[in-house]
Amino acid sequence: MNDKIKEYSSLIEEKLYKYFEASLPEYKILFDSMEYSVKNGGKRVRPLLTLLFYNACGKDDVLKAMPMAEAVEYIHTYSLIHDDLPCMDNDDFRRGKPSNHKVYGEAIALLAGDGLLTSAFERISVWSLAGLYDAETAVKAIHELSVYAGARGMIGGQIIDIGNENNPNADFDNLKLMDSLKTGCLISVACALGCIAAGASQDLIDSAKTFGEKLGLAFQIKDDILDVTSTLEKLGKMTGSDKENNKSTYVTLLGIEKCEELVKQLTDEAMNALDVFPYNEAIKEYANYLADREY
Ligand code: IPE
Ligand code: IPE
Ligand code: MG
Ligand code: MG
Ligand code: MG
Repeated sequence: MNDKIKEYSSLIEEKLYKYFEASLPEYKILFDSMEYSVKNGGKRVRPLLTLLFYNACGKDDVLKAMPMAEAVEYIHTYSLIHDDLPCMDNDDFRRGKPSNHKVYGEAIALLAGDGLLTSAFERISVWSLAGLYDAETAVKAIHELSVYAGARGMIGGQIIDIGNENNPNADFDNLKLMDSLKTGCLISVACALGCIAAGASQDLIDSAKTFGEKLGLAFQIKDDILDVTSTLEKLGKMTGSDKENNKSTYVTLLGIEKCEELVKQLTDEAMNALDVFPYNEAIKEYANYLADREY
């Protein structure tokens, strides 16, 4: 793996946990539960993309983009805690460990998700108040993140997903919309936030979003393939979950082979959006790695 990817990955691991150190005894359990899900085992795809896009805009001081990267990973982690709840996908394992609600119970898991979601906006705004970002940059970042993670974005996708349970008639357009929203949106905004932190032009921000949309769709299709072909040991989460919940996915519609082709095709299309970036080699390498990933 590229040295830059290794370096950024370890920086992310180091910074992500800092937030959970300070807590009052009265709500320690909440912080423990939040930390439990953030720690150990996530691939950190989204924060890594934030740092890689910051760097692709020609910037080296990646710590400046770190609060944005942390924010995206907190939102992603909250989405997984809620996604695993019995009222959603009802999954008992996540990131190689029992799901948050299996350890802390549903009420605390729900609140840990809420805590992580709001912490995301705290991370960006507190660093802006400390002078790291000017007010316009911070508001733009918070605006983009709230739109892409919200009801017209990731949450909109999750509601389509729930609506599609036990619906064998979900068609290609419906699945594309669902996956673009539930997964594409957060990946897309993760890429955009790197450019926003770098003070890049709207053109670059838009290209980062286009890359993220294509890559995000490829990422979810690959996730659906792995749900069928992988194992709990490799994946760190239950396999066969989609079948168990009667979910319609690209895999149920098109079959594994066609889906693998689609992952490659979408990854190639994503790469086309990278030409405008001065330094895009590490992102290209990472996109190929994700298309071939086994977990
Ligand atoms: C899982 O995301 C949920 C999807 C959107 C497919 P990841 O595969 O990025 O999960 P972690 O962060 O590595 O656990
Ligand atoms: C999850 O999709 C998408 C979000 C959490 C927004 P999945 O339900 O397929 O993710 P996994 O397979 O549980 O990780
Ligand atoms: Mg789900
Ligand atoms: Mg799930
Ligand atoms: Mg899945």
